[in-house]
Amino acid sequence: MFLTDPTDDDLHTLYAVPTSSEDAERPFVRANFIMTVDGRIAGPDGTSSSINNPADKRVFDLLRSLADTVLVGAGTVRGEGYGRLEAPPAGRAPELVVVSNSGRMPDSVLESPTHDGGVPRGRAVLATRAAAPPQDGVERLVCGDDEVDAVRLLRALRDRGARSVLCEGGPSLLTTLLDAGLVDELALTTAPMIVGDVGDASLTTAPLDVPMRWRGGAVIDGTVFALWGVNPDG
Ligand SMILES: NC(=O)c1ccc[n+]([C@@H]2O[C@H](COP(=O)([O-])OP(=O)(O)OC[C@H]3O[C@@H](n4cnc5c(N)ncnc54)[C@H](OP(=O)(O)O)[C@@H]3O)[C@@H](O)[C@H]2O)c1
Repeated sequence: MFLTDPTDDDLHTLYAVPTSSEDAERPFVRANFIMTVDGRIAGPDGTSSSINNPADKRVFDLLRSLADTVLVGAGTVRGEGYGRLEAPPAGRAPELVVVSNSGRMPDSVLESPTHDGGVPRGRAVLATRAAAPPQDGVERLVCGDDEVDAVRLLRALRDRGARSVLCEGGPSLLTTLLDAGLVDELALTTAPMIVGDVGDASLTTAPLDVPMRWRGGAVIDGTVFALWGVNPDG
């Protein structure tokens, strides 16, 4: 399937989350990234803010609305200033799970409101290792002794009731998940721009050998949305 100027219904069909069985070992995991035509995942300001656009925001919001949990590395939270997540217009706010070995919940999350105009925002949880010192007022999910174990983390999310997890990066966390065979789909947006040499801005932090298969895509205002099945044969 490849859609040109899709309607909202078309996009819902393209990105529908497959139903997983009750006894699945882990939730369905989709990773969502934006990159430029020259393959950079950050622009001159060192974040994705300078490479995204309204078409990407439309799909970004849709993917969030389909997730129970948004999983993100602490580096991205620090760099992009994430706070607790707002609810989409007709839905509930996903939980934000921040992955960190250091065990510090970034200030932007701690300082974000728990309510937005009276509407509750999603919970924020820190996924970390037992060796990290606890932090006052931070809900922790301990998933490993000396480092965060991604398999344990996803099992813990399943046990909290998550059926669908959206990983919003960054490259370090994506590399861990891909390397461990824990990603089902990669939603990759290509923004119609070239930023050139902006330093270290690659999709992953290590070489990986990951089989992928085309699942479908769309083009909206010159921005290309690709959906890849990862490890499609198991
Ligand atoms: N274009 C896009 O769609 C997109 C999406 C996301 C991010 N980005 C960009 O990516 C850049 C950040 O890259 P990054 O690789 O530093 O991002 P990252 O993976 O979000 O952050 C790395 C940090 O997150 C924690 N972390 C990540 N994986 C972990 C693991 N497996 N176990 C334990 N902790 C883990 C660690 O935090 P502690 O240091 O606290 O231990 C680590 O230092 C920024 O420029 C950001 O704008 C782009």
